[in-house]
Amino acid sequence: MIALKPDPEALNVGVVGLGYWGPNLLRTLAEMPNARLRWICDLDQQVLEAFGRRYPGPAQTMDVGCLLDDPELDAIVFATPVFTHFDLASRSLDAGKHTFVEKPLAPSSDLASELLRRARAEGLVLMCGHTFLYSPPVRAVKDLLRRDELGEIFFVSSSRVNLGLHQPDVSVIWDLGPHDFSILLYWLEEMPSTVRAIGRDSIVSGIPDVAFVTLTYESGIVANVELSWLAPSKLRRTVIVGSRKMVVYDDGSPEPVRVFDHGVVYKDPETFGEYKLSYRTGDILSPKIDAYEPIVEELGDFLGAIRNGGESVANASLAKEVVQLAEAADDSMRLGGAEVALGSARRFFPRDRRERLVNPSASA
Ligand SMILES: NC(=O)c1ccc[n+]([C@@H]2O[C@H](COP(=O)([O-])OP(=O)(O)OC[C@H]3O[C@@H](n4cnc5c(N)ncnc54)[C@H](O)[C@@H]3O)[C@@H](O)[C@H]2O)c1
Repeated sequence: MIALKPDPEALNVGVVGLGYWGPNLLRTLAEMPNARLRWICDLDQQVLEAFGRRYPGPAQTMDVGCLLDDPELDAIVFATPVFTHFDLASRSLDAGKHTFVEKPLAPSSDLASELLRRARAEGLVLMCGHTFLYSPPVRAVKDLLRRDELGEIFFVSSSRVNLGLHQPDVSVIWDLGPHDFSILLYWLEEMPSTVRAIGRDSIVSGIPDVAFVTLTYESGIVANVELSWLAPSKLRRTVIVGSRKMVVYDDGSPEPVRVFDHGVVYKDPETFGEYKLSYRTGDILSPKIDAYEPIVEELGDFLGAIRNGGESVANASLAKEVVQLAEAADDSMRLGGAEVALGSARRFFPRDRRERLVNPSASA
């Protein structure tokens, strides 16, 4: 057996939350030479013991306080339910730990701002798990936009639908929406100015499982995001239409990015009412997409930001904007699809519902 030399630069990391997503973060960190797993933590003892058998190195605990009190621990990665994010992340920052929180960063923009403030005040890295910003096809589309290959962007239309997983504590807007909102912010580098959303709680009362969210931008771009846990098949597809070219990003397809050299040529009317349109259908290109695991890049970015300083791609400011968009979509849906100007969005849940989630024993 070859003994691996420990990396003297490796950071001590703890993982909290080993449900559906946490084990992916745990496996990735366990394989990263610049991370040393020091703790695993979950409220569920059986889950904890099962992962303890698979990863015998780190200490196990059901109490996050053990991680907070450990002076040797550099960073904590949280993959716990959304309603725990603010409390756990703020305690982690207060304890002087660099903090990675799964998406969405916090259940309201006020709480997201508070986390940002604490991270800045303490000089700590605060990052959010917007994994798609590290996905090779999303990066390839970003490259096309950076090189201005598509011309002026007219609109974006995306569908992220699947059968399940229904979440018990958040609507589909807060569960799936952060993926599209973060991708749009990353690609377009522009915060929408208005948000409108309609949807319904088809299955579980009070928890919308389908939503259609429309965003408008100062630059004139319009975007539509369809989100649903109720669909016959899985679809993660985004179309970007520009004045020069169009792109289809189809996650999971063997050709995840296709660039269409298609467009419309408009000629100003020479005489009154006689405008001319001609349709251009050129080549369809499928660029070569790098092959790497987004989650490895993501956690590498987190550890790199701690080690070298600087901002991660999925930084806390972007994560806060994602929360603002989800919040605005929630508000609009509650107002029957009314236009919500960014800045006027307020809360995540109506107060009574949020209190019940944070404290399930509180009366309904
Ligand atoms: N980045 C992605 O692509 C992606 C994908 C799926 C889920 N997520 C995010 O990951 C987070 C977790 O989602 P999930 O589906 O894994 O949830 P889950 O309910 O399956 O797992 C959560 C785990 O956290 C544990 N937990 C809860 N509170 C705790 C506490 N105070 N201390 C220790 N452990 C605690 C629970 O016991 C459970 O095992 C959510 O924020 C979700 O949005 C991200």
